[in-house]
Amino acid sequence: MRIDIISVVPELLNSPFNASILKRAIDAKLAEIHVHNLRDFASDQYNSIDDYQFGGGAGMVMMVEPIDKCITKLKSERDYDEIIYLSPDGDSFNQSIANQLSLHQNIIILCGHYKGVDQRVRDHLVTREISIGDYVLSGGELAAAVVCDAIIRLIPGVLGNETSALTDSFQDDLLAPPIYTRPRSYNNWDVPELLFSGNFPEIEAWREAQAIARTKAKRPDLWADDSD
Ligand code: ADE
Repeated sequence: MRIDIISVVPELLNSPFNASILKRAIDAKLAEIHVHNLRDFASDQYNSIDDYQFGGGAGMVMMVEPIDKCITKLKSERDYDEIIYLSPDGDSFNQSIANQLSLHQNIIILCGHYKGVDQRVRDHLVTREISIGDYVLSGGELAAAVVCDAIIRLIPGVLGNETSALTDSFQDDLLAPPIYTRPRSYNNWDVPELLFSGNFPEIEAWREAQAIARTKAKRPDLWADDSD
């Protein structure tokens, strides 16, 4: 999978892809990340990519032309499955969207900044708008890192044990059950006995019951969605 990220602060995207699972995925050529500096597509001597909004009002707006030039260049090189604009007013990102996106070959992610982009970018250039939550970040870069992480870990071969992505919280609209490791007892805080029983069907049933109880208690909205 190839992800092209368009940004006005490309340096913000260095570290997320330079460690741990994402770095391993990139080194193993299971994922390619290309970050493009939007200023390279500016048309004036000041490398401007934003301007005042027509009609007045506070805040700068990202101009359509540099974004169009960058996207057009990328599209001339390969086909893209989605061109995603990250913005607080996009569709709420969730596991189901991550699953869908992880099946694509090539995607573009446009990081918003300032007041956002000229509406014509949204009307004519992007195919999907995504928000990572109901809060406003200074720009889309950290959101891009979140979206890329959630997608890339789902690509077959990225996680050592592929089943571990399938048993993540949210994969079946349930939160994950409690997990334990050594020591068996710490400060008299004991691991449930059943986990040492070797009775794997019973352990599985216990985990499922725990996942359901946790989901009902912490995320009744997910539980309600799941039961219809
Ligand atoms: N840019 C600024 N805030 C954002 C958010 N919550 N999600 C995605 N992109 C953003």
